Amino acid sequence: MSHNTFGHLFRVTTWGESHGPALGCVVDGCPPGIRFTLDEIQAYMDKRKPGQSRFVTQRREDDIVKVLSGVMLSEDGTVMTTTGTPISMLIENTDQRSKDYGDIARRYRPGHADYAYDLKYGIRDYRGGGRSSARETAARVAAGALARKVIPGVTIRAALVQIGKHRINRANWNWAEVDKNPFFCPDAEMVPVWEDYLDTIRKAGSSIGAVIEVVAENVPAGLGAPIYAKLDQDIASLLMSINAVKGVEIGEGFAAAELSGEDNADEMRMGNDAQPVFLSNHAGGILGGISTGQPITARFAVKPTSSILTERQSIDADGNNVDVRTKGRHDPCVGIRAAPIGEAMVACALADHFLRDRGQTGKTR
Ligand SMILES: Cc1cc2nc3c(=O)[nH]c(=O)nc-3n(C[C@H](O)[C@H](O)[C@H](O)COP(=O)(O)O)c2cc1C
Repeated sequence: MSHNTFGHLFRVTTWGESHGPALGCVVDGCPPGIRFTLDEIQAYMDKRKPGQSRFVTQRREDDIVKVLSGVMLSEDGTVMTTTGTPISMLIENTDQRSKDYGDIARRYRPGHADYAYDLKYGIRDYRGGGRSSARETAARVAAGALARKVIPGVTIRAALVQIGKHRINRANWNWAEVDKNPFFCPDAEMVPVWEDYLDTIRKAGSSIGAVIEVVAENVPAGLGAPIYAKLDQDIASLLMSINAVKGVEIGEGFAAAELSGEDNADEMRMGNDAQPVFLSNHAGGILGGISTGQPITARFAVKPTSSILTERQSIDADGNNVDVRTKGRHDPCVGIRAAPIGEAMVACALADHFLRDRGQTGKTR
């Protein structure tokens, strides 16, 4: 199962499985001299880790990151400074329960990767899904935390904007609310609605999809390049690489199809400081594949979790018709924990493009 690496200059390789002893990442190409603390990495890991509310999987993992290489530790042991060599980060798996997966060892969960993995590789780690498990995304979040340090001043935040048919009221958007509820929801009024809704879904042993929005602010203008290194192309690719993601939009996305040229045009004027000002941001901060300095906005849709308690028709590895009911600990809505993962992927894309831009133009922006 090759292709475990993404990025060009900020290059991330992830390794490890859901039910192995550990997983992690190697970040190659991180510039030397970047200072960070473990607490800074851990803060993002804590946002993604399982078991934090009844609305996510009850697997218990502390997701403590160990940095194995690529840094010099300060004498007091608190600050790490990158040396420019590969940075290896490790996260132990401490709460595996392989027996939960005995029933699906030879049965394919409809909607999951089981059938496709067996078909292609002839071998499948059924214990938690191996590499198809979103445990792997813990390593991406560690890499993303480091990526943020490569692009200081850039703020990258994600919020859940839709669960099932329940969309937030964008007029109520308040970033301060996002960390106050278990859904990363920016609309305080939607929180009780989602609570009731997800309780019903969860108790029925079912699952539901969601939409997450990622916003990156203070991104320098000039990142990205025509034609095969468009910033939106790379952001979309990395968001699409997240498990269960079925759609990605930048700016207006699919809604742009309903707009007229007049409505969609982001008009410009010169501001008082002799800098251009955009009067709207339908483009989501990217024109011609290059960042304009406006906030970058991306949304991604995740499908409902395929591991559900309701019996569904499928087949097994011997070609028999079977009914599959998935027990074990699963996320009833994977969109919740996908929010910090989306942030991490955007951070990695921006760090990579920041370094590529500096390499080509010599500008530090
Ligand atoms: C944060 C997160 C948590 C997930 N948790 C589960 C889970 O508990 N059970 C499950 O069946 N799928 C879960 N998934 C989705 C599967 O990993 C995904 O559906 C599977 O790898 C197949 O890939 P695909 O959906 O992209 O085709 C999760 C995804 C994310 C992003």
